[in-house]
Amino acid sequence: MAKILIAYYSRGGNTRQMAQCIEAAARQVEQTEVTCRPVNEVNPRDFLDYHGIIMGSPVYYGTMAAELKKLIDDSVVFHGKLAGKVGGAFASSANIGGGNETTIMDIIKVLLIHGMIIPGSAQGDHYGPVAIGAPDERAKTECRKLGKLIAELTVKLHG
Ligand SMILES: Cc1cc2nc3c(=O)[nH]c(=O)nc-3n(C[C@H](O)[C@H](O)[C@H](O)COP(=O)(O)O)c2cc1C
Repeated sequence: MAKILIAYYSRGGNTRQMAQCIEAAARQVEQTEVTCRPVNEVNPRDFLDYHGIIMGSPVYYGTMAAELKKLIDDSVVFHGKLAGKVGGAFASSANIGGGNETTIMDIIKVLLIHGMIIPGSAQGDHYGPVAIGAPDERAKTECRKLGKLIAELTVKLHG
């Protein structure tokens, strides 16, 4: 069984809606066990229990919210122990060009520094799903794609 964690911060619910879309799609993939939690309910120790970890945040001044960054910084005690796990990222901003991709790349940099494996997407949102405000149908489709992609790769590598 491939275990996947979706950890997100969301103050207004937009990023949470994205997380729920990703969760629903990942659950469709056989041999997965998917957990979706806000960051205040995630302990960095939890990361050890999962084979795939997806993180999402609203864009705050072009990067992730401090709440997600704190969880990440607290994960330093497990540095080196997350290597080989599968990772992904998603973000919601207020504006087009408001920093979704810079935020996703900041999260992806963290996952890479942890030694994780990050799949890209040749079509659509290349780095991870982005939404302007609440996810519209386009963004929801991208979220479902990420959930499926991460789940399938996690099963392939760790199932
Ligand atoms: C402190 C703060 C900083 C923000 N910075 C940006 C920003 O740089 N660019 C942008 O497009 N939106 C910015 N926003 C708007 C949020 O990213 C946007 O409303 C997002 O959809 C909120 O997601 P949530 O409903 O999951 O909390 C900011 C909001 C706050 C509260």
